[in-house]
Amino acid sequence: MATNRAHFASKLGVIAATAGSAVGLGNIWRFPSEVAGNGGGAFVLIYLCCTLLIGAPIMISEFVIGRHSEANASTAFRKIAPGKPWWFIGLMGILAAFLIMGFYSVVGGWAVEYAWQAVINAFDGKSTIELQQNFELFSTSSYRPLIWIFLFVAFTALVVLAGIKEGIEKYSKILMPILFVLLLFLCIYSLTLPKAGEGLRFLFMPDFSKITSSVILSALGQSFFSLSLGMGCLITYGSYFNKKTNLPKTAVQVIIIDTLVAVLAAVAIFPSVFSFGITDAAGPTLAFISLPAIFNQMFGGYFLAVAFFFLLLVAAITSSISLLEVITAYVTETYKVSRRKATIVISLVIFILAVLSSLSLAKGELTFFGMKFFDILDGFSSKILLPLGGLFIAIFTGWVFNPTHLFQELEKGSQLSFALFRAYLFLVRYIAPLGILLVFLHQLGLFTWIESWVK
Ligand code: PHE
Repeated sequence: MATNRAHFASKLGVIAATAGSAVGLGNIWRFPSEVAGNGGGAFVLIYLCCTLLIGAPIMISEFVIGRHSEANASTAFRKIAPGKPWWFIGLMGILAAFLIMGFYSVVGGWAVEYAWQAVINAFDGKSTIELQQNFELFSTSSYRPLIWIFLFVAFTALVVLAGIKEGIEKYSKILMPILFVLLLFLCIYSLTLPKAGEGLRFLFMPDFSKITSSVILSALGQSFFSLSLGMGCLITYGSYFNKKTNLPKTAVQVIIIDTLVAVLAAVAIFPSVFSFGITDAAGPTLAFISLPAIFNQMFGGYFLAVAFFFLLLVAAITSSISLLEVITAYVTETYKVSRRKATIVISLVIFILAVLSSLSLAKGELTFFGMKFFDILDGFSSKILLPLGGLFIAIFTGWVFNPTHLFQELEKGSQLSFALFRAYLFLVRYIAPLGILLVFLHQLGLFTWIESWVK
């Protein structure tokens, strides 16, 4: 299929852009707070299993669908299975992208505010309690976060407008390694804190009694969220890969980078949670309180804080770009509107969603069924839409995609052996769909129902 579609320029560019999408607030902000809220080590263990057995094959599948069809997340399914309704998977992904952006840009806005606070040295001399109060005051105030959210969305839009090749591919290559080194540095410091042992024990010692179906669902959802899976983001990026890209190898590299960053972020954060007695450690506020608390204690903390929050911002932006790109690619290719028009209108819708979700954190407003709009967007997208999207993508690649074409596409650039291909096919056909289905059914209480029925 010869098209004039834009492609990433180099191998490194492919990794940087894709890892740029994967590594984001999901790793540094969401992973540690999920670990804290779901029993520590047990969650980490299940997260790793979900990533290996379900995340990896689905990531490869998204790449294959994207590169084979060279189309956006919805048209890709139309091209591979014409006349069948599988394109709805793409539409679900577009919806997910809107919902995720609705809360992601709020947290992205916090990152902008914190980068600014770091610059003006606002953390200096504050106790952990004060830092905690400051954050709460800021994130629950009605209007202050909105301007930062606007900046975050506007900047994302500008990059997407300019096209991803020249801007983000180039910068990701420089900035992602710096983020990595900085995190390593923070980990080392964090390990010298008085209660580092306690923090690490919490993080790495699985307490199996803590494993419930909702913990498993959270781990599965987190794995999808962190790897940008289940909503067509990697189908869209895959459509910009050239035929020389080694798809399985790229997936493995991206997964290793993403997992490492998440674990490093947790190692940087937990010792300080225990050492500085941070309460409410399970909330979405964790990274914004415990890291400034560490910076305050550190020699050269000012520079590290500035560097860290800027890089957090970069990580968030490379992810939000990929989210916006999913919708933009779909809208421009389907409705034949210009990239400029599409990006502006989509960003406005996203901004409105983000304003609503930010206001819902200002106490008492916009709460539905006892849940804040912010939490609804977060929970519904990561715990329902992404795993469901992943389920359909696995079924589609495993059972609908012609296996010969699948093998030929995967083999390009990779010299994949047939044995490995069969292992992959086994995972997408059986393990991934069954795994996701079981987690869903268990969560719906089906097993308890059967148990009580049998008795
Ligand atoms: N993976 C991103 C992160 O960890 C979030 C994201 C989800 C990006 C889905 C794209 C698609 O922050």
